Amino acid sequence: MIKKSKSIFWHTGVAERWKVYDSPGRPSKDECRLIQSFIVQHKKQPKVLILGSTPEYRDLAHTVKAEVTCVDVGLGMLVAMTDFMKHKNKADQEVWFRSDWLTMPVAENYYDFVLGDLVITNLPLQLQPALLAKIKSILKPGGYFITRDWWPPMTKPAIEPMIEKILESGINKKSINVFSWELLNLAYDSKGKSATTDDMYRALKMFQQKERNQARKRQLVPLLKHLIYVYPLGKTWWVKFRPEAEKTMKKYFKIKSIKHGRDNQCAQECPIYFLQK
Ligand SMILES: C[S@@+](CC[C@H](N)C(=O)[O-])C[C@H]1O[C@@H](n2cnc3c(N)ncnc32)[C@H](O)[C@@H]1O
Repeated sequence: MIKKSKSIFWHTGVAERWKVYDSPGRPSKDECRLIQSFIVQHKKQPKVLILGSTPEYRDLAHTVKAEVTCVDVGLGMLVAMTDFMKHKNKADQEVWFRSDWLTMPVAENYYDFVLGDLVITNLPLQLQPALLAKIKSILKPGGYFITRDWWPPMTKPAIEPMIEKILESGINKKSINVFSWELLNLAYDSKGKSATTDDMYRALKMFQQKERNQARKRQLVPLLKHLIYVYPLGKTWWVKFRPEAEKTMKKYFKIKSIKHGRDNQCAQECPIYFLQK
């Protein structure tokens, strides 16, 4: 039997820090606009299932007057993320399942759209096909799985420019989110096809330890603290390069379109897939 990820409940600890998250870790305004207009063009009063508790997706689903179902393995996330919604008052009308996506007890051939923000990479590679098969089974014929994903870098980025950039701009909500994403790209292990928060932290810590300039060494201490606050240790993502990832997607869906938000600094690595059953 394939083991589930130990980090499956990692987000529950992150819930209380959600206010410090920003694009690209959370969907941007333009990314939501792209998804919302796609839905509007295809279906009135759609049935939408959201994988996870992403407040932006719940809001956009309510804006298009959808019937909304959310499925999250963490009840804490479903509850805590409600606070970040613009349409909090609509949360009462949502159907919630506290469940693993692989075994979610929802009707087959029922949903017009399944939305998931950076969801596939939360599952070990061997389980990703089962997730796609499950999503396909709950979509109506012709329905869409819309998901933001991560294209990992073909070549490892260098750490110095990322550090230069954030030390120059200062640590703020925007810069720490972009920096963390860049560090995630650096931590990507193309052989193991995975990236961990432990490796992100280790890369920065090693850089700090090697730094000879004492002033700069001191400047890196708050950066380490912020990183570990935003991306605590103990999380793994499993990510294939684009061609391999799309090969798996195509076994279950037609790739109808791939779009990128204009207001996400890392948009080129964050494709939004519109996958049709
Ligand atoms: C959608 S993901 C990625 C974060 C994303 N950027 C967001 O906006 O939520 C995070 C959510 O998925 C949930 N989750 C992760 N793995 C899961 C699984 N196998 N089954 C159900 N929920 C899961 C977590 O509890 C968390 O609430």
